Amino acid sequence: MTAAIIDGKAFAAGLRARIATEVEALARRGIKPGLAVVLVGEDPASQVYVRSKGRMTVEVGMASFEHRLPDTTPEDELLALIARLNADPAVNGILVQLPLPRHMDEAAVINAIAPEKDVDGFHILNVGLLATGQKAMVPCTPLGCLMLLRDRLGDLAGKRAVVIGRSNIVGKPMAQLLLRDSATVTVAHSRTADLPALCREADILVAAVGRAEFVKGDWIKPGATVIDVGINRTEAGLVGDVDFASALPVAGAITPVPGGVGPMTIACLLANTLTATARANGLTDPEGLTP
Ligand code: GUN
Repeated sequence: MTAAIIDGKAFAAGLRARIATEVEALARRGIKPGLAVVLVGEDPASQVYVRSKGRMTVEVGMASFEHRLPDTTPEDELLALIARLNADPAVNGILVQLPLPRHMDEAAVINAIAPEKDVDGFHILNVGLLATGQKAMVPCTPLGCLMLLRDRLGDLAGKRAVVIGRSNIVGKPMAQLLLRDSATVTVAHSRTADLPALCREADILVAAVGRAEFVKGDWIKPGATVIDVGINRTEAGLVGDVDFASALPVAGAITPVPGGVGPMTIACLLANTLTATARANGLTDPEGLTP
């Protein structure tokens, strides 16, 4: 047996096509969704992400506003820009690319974004809404993982899920989303005892640790669905947090790197921008783009 490959690239392309159709429908009402992306500094990986975000935003028919600030920008100036974007009716979504330069208070910057325009779902209000099962903006990467899992498995109720990683961007919101779908969720991290044994109990294994090929095939329950969130640059090229070669004969299904979770993140950013636009205009949420 060999695992089915979960084609996130194709799924994301389908999602963007649907979003483009919804954007056309909004255009007939005179509404054009707008996404503002703010990049502070010159982190090379962030520059690549920001460029592809801008391109895909335009491709689905939305307006893209890019703001690039030098890494010496005082925090006040960034906060002033966020205040202008909060007040700008052409902007429905605001994303401040992380990581920020060290002299900035990341939490203060994120919490300055108007919660209804917080398409990353990082604002403390959205985190609380998600945790209490209320209508929130949901972080893009976990939302993309959830869509792939539901597509593969249908109902997640009663499944044993292990999430490796406890970041605010992926691990914690992923756990919340799985819990909301009635999975039995364990969040593992660097201090977890006997991680391989824990992983072997998982029907759903989400790896979001940022360590190249960390999860080995013999940690995986035969037939499990494995979602690899890792993007690690090594001398051998781009690899995930899962040792793909040893996982392949054991897992039931697995996302590849690249071409798995990565493309879903940007597609879900556009989905969130569409949802934010609908809500800002008093329309119902577009079908299937929110948990
Ligand atoms: N840096 C790495 N991932 C993300 C993300 O999902 N959103 C933002 N804003 N920055 C990031």
